[in-house]
Amino acid sequence: MVMKQLLALAAAVLASVVVSARGSDFEFYKLSLIWPSSVCISAPQNCKSPIPKFFTIHGLWPTLKNGTAVPPYDQVTNKCNVDPLKPNQIVAKLTSIRGRLETKWPNLIKGKSDEIYWETEWSHHGMCSDYPQDPLTYFTSTLDLAENSKYDPLKVLGVPPSNTPHDIDTLLENVKKNVGYYPQISCSMPIKGTKQLYLKEIRFCFKRAMPPSALQNCPDDMDDMCRSVPPAQRTVMLPLPITTTTTTNVTPTLVRNIMSPPASTTTSWPNLTCGSLVYVQWGIIGLLVLYVLARRNRVHEHVE
Ligand SMILES: *[C@@H]1O[C@H](CO)[C@@H](O)[C@H](O)[C@H]1NC(C)=O
Repeated sequence: MVMKQLLALAAAVLASVVVSARGSDFEFYKLSLIWPSSVCISAPQNCKSPIPKFFTIHGLWPTLKNGTAVPPYDQVTNKCNVDPLKPNQIVAKLTSIRGRLETKWPNLIKGKSDEIYWETEWSHHGMCSDYPQDPLTYFTSTLDLAENSKYDPLKVLGVPPSNTPHDIDTLLENVKKNVGYYPQISCSMPIKGTKQLYLKEIRFCFKRAMPPSALQNCPDDMDDMCRSVPPAQRTVMLPLPITTTTTTNVTPTLVRNIMSPPASTTTSWPNLTCGSLVYVQWGIIGLLVLYVLARRNRVHEHVE
């Protein structure tokens, strides 16, 4: 009886070890960097101002050999590490690198906090990385790679931002020439009514190490959105930085007044009308009261 229980226990322990080993059995890290202009170009007012004029970080993703990202940590279905820190525990550990994170790893979307972004990246990718207990090292390693000018996309892509699309293969070859390995390019199609691809992200693949530092080829050199366009038309735009004034509080008001006077008159007229109606009402009531009083006085006078 005891023997049976021991065997069951041993089997359970073995199973959990196998599960955790398989869950964290990834091949390499993918460093994903965002071109903010491509993200914000369709609606710059939805992005925080000023919009960065350099590539910002999306994340550092443990990735399987075939290029698929390791799925997020899950207690039941993907217990990739034994006891990773929970997302709500990490921000307190990042105070010493907060400035670097705010600059290089910001949440671009207006009204969305940086902390939420970092916590989401941690829950999607950090908890299954090699640093499940150590977000400070995970985030620092990511910053170190992204801040290394060796991997600055604006240098290694070999073309400056412009209004001219480039052959996607040319950009891939430029990167290969400049850093020795193929990256992955991720595309978007932000302009409605056109099929023009924009370079949304560039991703560098690093061999699994603590910390990751040696590049390798990415198994898949472009994502599905890039591939949605036939190879012959596969050109990609690296749009110019978006310049927004820092005095956005003043400009929109001015613009609104100049651009749409009808809007301001319709909003102010009803108020005005209401206000004057009230005055007219009280004026009429006042006159009536005076009139009645005057009549009464006159009646009294007559009686006397
Ligand atoms: C990559 O490998 C994983 C695990 O072996 C598998 O689940 C997934 O479907 C594969 N993805 C592709 C695109 O082949």
